Amino acid sequence: MQVTVVVPTFNEAPNVAELVRRVTAAAQGFEVDILFVDDSTDDTPRVIERVARAASVPVRVIHRDVPSGGLGGAVSAGLAAAASDVCVVMDGDLQHPPEDIATLVNRFRRGDADLVVASRYVAEGASSGLADRTRILVSRASTHVTKAMFPIRLRDVSDPMTGFFLVDRTRLDLDELRPRGFKILLEILARRQLRVAEIPFSFADRHAGDSKASFRQGIHFLAQLTSLRFGKMSLFAVIGGLGAIANLGIVWVLSHLGVGDVVAMIIAAETTIIANFVLQERFVFQDMRADASGIVSRFAKSFAFNNTELIVRIPITALIISNWHISVVIATGITLVVAFILRFLFHSLVVYAPRRAGAQKASAARGLVEELDRQAISPGEL
Ligand code: GDD
Ligand code: MN
Repeated sequence: MQVTVVVPTFNEAPNVAELVRRVTAAAQGFEVDILFVDDSTDDTPRVIERVARAASVPVRVIHRDVPSGGLGGAVSAGLAAAASDVCVVMDGDLQHPPEDIATLVNRFRRGDADLVVASRYVAEGASSGLADRTRILVSRASTHVTKAMFPIRLRDVSDPMTGFFLVDRTRLDLDELRPRGFKILLEILARRQLRVAEIPFSFADRHAGDSKASFRQGIHFLAQLTSLRFGKMSLFAVIGGLGAIANLGIVWVLSHLGVGDVVAMIIAAETTIIANFVLQERFVFQDMRADASGIVSRFAKSFAFNNTELIVRIPITALIISNWHISVVIATGITLVVAFILRFLFHSLVVYAPRRAGAQKASAARGLVEELDRQAISPGEL
């Protein structure tokens, strides 16, 4: 078996020779080559080239002049450029012991996993190399939050934040990844359901040099989490919100022009329904249009849903007020939120459903949850 070890590096010159030596020694029973993806501002690339000449396994370096996506971008560039489909991703500071590569490969050889995660949080794993108590706490807490946000995708993963894993590249769609910041594994896991296995490992101390983790990386991570989780849905909400503001504006203008209340409300509602449809087509569901039914049919479904909602929501709100004895503001808030969720569901599951979907209907509840999960996280960046 041929394995490419992908190593992202940012100013790791003093660690290169030791890393190459230990990776070479660890490759027993499989062939290994090493690919550094480097964004350094120091002489790391030259050091790598010097070490490569003396190495007994192939060592390559890609130096990126435009370091887009940081550590995550480097890893996905490395996966794309790797010589083999089986890739091991590891840090360049020896916090990920190269000897564990053999364990990753052996686990992968059993053939029941697309991705093998080296975890600090399974029995016999350890996170002792994390710098201090605060770092340990932050890492633990963010792991829990992340797992809670992706209960299905991360079901089998105890350490979604690790940077040490083996992946079968053929099981990924590299173009689909939106790597940003430190947590590329989370990006990979969240985008599609993979068969995942874990092995324990002990996160070691840094061999040399300084960590590049920072408060800024923390913020990056939070942004990544929310946009992974709420990608399409949050854009959908933003457009809905803009529509609501436009609606108010149109009513205001029309009533100042002396148009009657009901007519003004109808014109405003229909205008925003149409405008929202155009914006959703362009910005939210653009990647699903090709497989969905034609634009006339999509518009008809969307238009019908929104008008039904418009007609039905007010009497339902009135019913809620009289039955639950709550104020009109709270009742309207409740029906608006429910309507938003239904509208998102209807658009992602019906309006933009792939044409040849018939077969999926079988396993109702589970299928719906998984489809929703898929929809909500699919990339929706503007
Ligand atoms: N190419 C590239 N570009 N490499 C980078 C960049 C970048 O912008 N930033 C950091 N790296 C490299 C470092 O050179 C190192 O090899 C590796 O990514 C990890 O960076 P560290 O600075 O050592 O960060 P850390 O040890 O705090 O964080 C690591 O620890 C996590 C465990 O909590 C991250 O690598 C995570 O992947 C790992 O799971
Ligand atoms: Mn490190």
